[in-house]
Amino acid sequence: MTVAVGVDVGTTGARGVAVDEAGEVVAGATSTYELRTPKPLWAEQDPADWWRAVQIVLGRLAGEVGEPIAGLGLTGQMHGSVFLDSAGAVIRPALLWNDQRTARQCSEISERVGAERLARITGNPALTGFQAPKVLWLREEEPEHYARVAHVLLPKDYVRLRLTGELATDASDAAGTLFLGLRERRWSSTILDALEVPAEWLPEVYESPEPTGVISAEVASAIGLPRGIPVAAGGGDNAAAAIGTAIVRDGVVSSSIGTSGVLFAHTDTASTDLTGRIHAFCHAVPSKYCLLGVTLSAGGSLRWWRDTIGVDYDTLIGEAESVGPGAEGLIFLPYLTGERTPHLDPEARGVFFGLTARHSRAHMTRALLEGVLFSLRDALETMRELGVRPSMVVATGGGSSSSLWRQLQADVYSTAVGQTVIQEGAAYGAALLGHVAAGTFASVEEAVRAVRMVEGVTEPDLRAAGVYDATFEIYRSLYARTEDLMHGLTALAAS
Ligand code: XUL
Repeated sequence: MTVAVGVDVGTTGARGVAVDEAGEVVAGATSTYELRTPKPLWAEQDPADWWRAVQIVLGRLAGEVGEPIAGLGLTGQMHGSVFLDSAGAVIRPALLWNDQRTARQCSEISERVGAERLARITGNPALTGFQAPKVLWLREEEPEHYARVAHVLLPKDYVRLRLTGELATDASDAAGTLFLGLRERRWSSTILDALEVPAEWLPEVYESPEPTGVISAEVASAIGLPRGIPVAAGGGDNAAAAIGTAIVRDGVVSSSIGTSGVLFAHTDTASTDLTGRIHAFCHAVPSKYCLLGVTLSAGGSLRWWRDTIGVDYDTLIGEAESVGPGAEGLIFLPYLTGERTPHLDPEARGVFFGLTARHSRAHMTRALLEGVLFSLRDALETMRELGVRPSMVVATGGGSSSSLWRQLQADVYSTAVGQTVIQEGAAYGAALLGHVAAGTFASVEEAVRAVRMVEGVTEPDLRAAGVYDATFEIYRSLYARTEDLMHGLTALAAS
């Protein structure tokens, strides 16, 4: 048996899985760490915490997996910035993907590069979470720290540096910095020059399954790992999760519902929405691309509802099942923490629209679930405009856990919905990339043959799909018609 390990440097902790060549998970381990918000809108982590957690996870896997570990793949939260000095020491805590402090720097980037040119080159607009505005923020707000910077890394790539001594990244994660030319899969000198950021600060860009050195002898013996394990370049968490769910050809889309919801589509060529409603990144499949839509409160909306009314999930889902499609004319906008796709609006707000005296808790839960899926359908429609023709959606995360969630997805998307047997997310995909780096498989396409699907798919119910098509039209126009009112409320609440 050959085993590869995948490690996900996530937002709440590090998750590692050991996967054999048949795709079975033979061991798993997790170690958590803190997310710090020293000021409103800030989100930071100490890279030393990631490294500590990864060592714990790898130590446990090494102890548990009797077989030799042949390869390792890295994945992690995207977009963060780790600032290192010339000796490789961390200068300040890392700014994370969900940090919102850089609105001013985003405007500056759009001005310096030109909004349309930026979208053409990088595939994306300047968003507060991305890495480039964080570098400009450091220059403007902490010049004493900026003066010491010699390297800027993404979260998983800091862990790579500690494991192997190599400064490297992969195209899928690099595409989330705003420094990468999407089509060339190389750092863009146009962007770097316009922003006056030195190219030598950024690591070399590899394709995801390529090896980027081996775990150093010192680290291997400290953790109890065999010597010489190659470390795959790996991928951003969404791209790696897509490998783990076999989203590696045109027409296959994944719909992941955790706290947030992510719709991910493979595309053979780079296609960009110049208005920036949807992210365009490199895929973890060499020379391929992806489109990504993010709804911020997906499962998070249901959790909020459960906590607010104090009724458990099973009861809520059971009640929602008793209500018909469209919740008898009740619509929910799930913008409880603002929205990313397609509105890019931190001040968007949640709404129950259409309440009547007939509506009960069951209707409200049903409308909430439908609203979460309408927000993902908003992303799907944008993808359709860019040529994505989904023949099947693979449901993952909490949204694949109940038959109601799966049926709602099939009906709202009007597409068959399948699911994978193993639901290990990004770490699982990273392990498959580790297998390719180790030579177990010749390519990513070959590796994903190990991903098994649950037998049978959930087919859309045509009558329900018709109700949802009509309801979605009203859902879509609600934000457009209330956007200014939402902003007014936010200003009022802050005054
Ligand atoms: C993607 C994104 C998140 C992070 C969190 O654009 O911001 O999915 O990668 O893990």
